Amino acid sequence: MEIINWKELLYPYEQAVEELLLKFKNLDKECRHLGIYSPVDSVTGRLKTPASILDKAGRKHIAPEHIEEEIEDIAGIRILCQFVEDIQKVVDMVRSRRDMTIVQEKDYITNTKASGYRSYHIIIRYPLSTALGPKEVFAEIQIRTNAMNFWATAEHSLRYKYSGNIPQELQDRLHNCAEAAFHLDQEMSTIREEITNAQRLNEI
Ligand code: GTP
Ligand code: MG
Repeated sequence: MEIINWKELLYPYEQAVEELLLKFKNLDKECRHLGIYSPVDSVTGRLKTPASILDKAGRKHIAPEHIEEEIEDIAGIRILCQFVEDIQKVVDMVRSRRDMTIVQEKDYITNTKASGYRSYHIIIRYPLSTALGPKEVFAEIQIRTNAMNFWATAEHSLRYKYSGNIPQELQDRLHNCAEAAFHLDQEMSTIREEITNAQRLNEI
């Protein structure tokens, strides 16, 4: 078994998370500065832990020397939006950027997962300028509403407690909760639209 130098392996990813956090937070700041609506409500970032990397490598039969090419979410950024329609605006912003390359998009909002999970994922290649020269790393950007995030974080911690095997009856109820959260999102969007329309009429 090859011994992994975690400090060396993770450092570029830590740098990527820091840079991406700064960039997406700045996007929000810039919108406020320009007085235009910001589709970004909040941004968080995280580094996958060695235990979680090893667990995923084991599940997906990835050899230690292939971790960097095969595991795309060692660096992770999560962008939370207030409204469902803001997600597309963030996606467009990511698509138009020149400082990162999109390699894959996964739309779990249109294609909701069997669990009820909804989110928009973008896998990018992100170029770094390290002390040892240029290096490109993968990063995963998850874009979701606060309601989708409320469900996903709660479901994740519950699934963790059950170590993966949640009884079907509870899975069904969790699925219902995801639908309720999405209903909330849709209703908030409808209300927003009605308020915007009423405002427009007032302006005429
Ligand atoms: P992993 O699920 O990370 O092994 O990778 P994958 O290649 O299967 O990618 P996928 O797009 O399915 O999931 C990536 C990430 O989305 C996960 O690491 C979770 O953060 C999140 N995710 C996917 N499905 C679910 C789900 O059913 N519930 C929750 N809470 N999160 C999910
Ligand atoms: Mg998965």
